[in-house]
Amino acid sequence: MKLIIINGPNLSLLGKREPEIYGANSFDTFFKELQQKFENIELAYFQSNIEGEIIDKLHEVGFNYDGIILNAAAYTHTSVGIGDAVKGIETPVIEVHISNVHSRETFRHVSYIAGNAKGVISGFGLQSYTLAIQSFLE
Ligand code: DQA
Repeated sequence: MKLIIINGPNLSLLGKREPEIYGANSFDTFFKELQQKFENIELAYFQSNIEGEIIDKLHEVGFNYDGIILNAAAYTHTSVGIGDAVKGIETPVIEVHISNVHSRETFRHVSYIAGNAKGVISGFGLQSYTLAIQSFLE
């Protein structure tokens, strides 16, 4: 089983950025824990602050991975291009968010990805990623 986590803009600041919303852990530390927890699967990680790089990565992995866990961060709410990329690839995508986007500002209630995703997991902190991996395994 080959899965990839793709994180969008500002998620490179996890641990430093608004810790009351996003927590105190860096993603690198969390990713190492995930690799240990799911040692039987091939788990890759990509982060970019640039919309086109996220689209390029979706094209690259979207025909040969078993699953994509995508937190497009702010681009979730703005990017027709990322939404179209998710629609155009074969690999199923689970949209994840650390915070519960539906309990926040109304602009975060819109997703250009959700309609083409296998499902959406939002509001469980970093555990949102763990739940997405588990759902691919079952
Ligand atoms: C986020 C929620 C988005 O609204 C926000 O722009 C982010 C992070 C989350 O994981 O909770 O950067 O995707």
